[in-house]
Amino acid sequence: MNYEAILVETKGKVGVITLNRPKALNALNDQLMDELGHALNEFDKNEQIGCIVLTGSEKAFAAGADITLMVNYTYMDAFNGNYVTRNWEHIRQIRKPVIAAVAGYALGGGCELAMMCDFIIAAENAKFGQPEIKLATIPGCGGTQRLPRAISKSKAMDMCLTARMMDAVEAERAGLVSRVVPLDKLMEETLAAATTIAGMSLPIVMMIKDSVNRAYETTLSEGVQYERRMFYSTFASEDQKEGMKSFLEKRLPNFRNL
Ligand code: CAA
Repeated sequence: MNYEAILVETKGKVGVITLNRPKALNALNDQLMDELGHALNEFDKNEQIGCIVLTGSEKAFAAGADITLMVNYTYMDAFNGNYVTRNWEHIRQIRKPVIAAVAGYALGGGCELAMMCDFIIAAENAKFGQPEIKLATIPGCGGTQRLPRAISKSKAMDMCLTARMMDAVEAERAGLVSRVVPLDKLMEETLAAATTIAGMSLPIVMMIKDSVNRAYETTLSEGVQYERRMFYSTFASEDQKEGMKSFLEKRLPNFRNL
């Protein structure tokens, strides 16, 4: 596939996808979402890749779904699912970790896209918001569901009902982002985190991602049982033997993803 709305590159064992519609502040249209889905799949399949980074520009991670496309949509356009929201949950099916490196605006679908990633590292100029109410519509890709889980009902209501933007400091305090870094260090810090993850045993990385995500889908006792079964299964992996032996032998592990 030829990419036009995104840039794709690899940095060691990290796959980097950059949203690239600068004139529209990376507004998310069908072409961009199709290309993003394709690129994510390719990195997920690629055995040389251990972690994926999704980023935008210094001014905007993404300013939301493309309003120029939605303005004349009918109910049936939206309901038939061929537009706007058609493959937005795709990112959730990726088994390798996806880190969002967010600078500038992450609004509407942009905020929702960042929340679909496994964690968010924000630059100091990042601004998060769900301003759909100003357009007389509502978040359509998980904003009303993931925000309350990420930052509490009260803050989610505040964000979605007033359309105010949350800056990076507030977003970190609220738990929406894992860390805030200076803008000029955003990619360096994110790539360092991604490289650390990509140096671990990939099957174990994927088990941890799966297990943490389970916490959002189930009760505590079911989730703990799920985690326990995952924990037991790590003892079937060669990397577990290597990880523990290397610790005892005071050397670095050599994981083979087995
Ligand atoms: N869709 C389409 N185009 C967009 C866009 C969007 N979501 N956001 C920005 N753009 C375009 C602008 O129209 C403008 O294009 P032109 O130069 O051709 O006029 C260009 O990007 C630059 O934008 P601004 O001139 O507005 O830049 P600014 O710095 O003054 O403001 C902003 C930046 C505050 C992000 C402002 O652009 C803005 O409010 N954007 C819309 C944000 C929004 O409402 N997002 C929610 C969309 S709905 C949604 O996402 C639904 C869902 O859940 C799936």
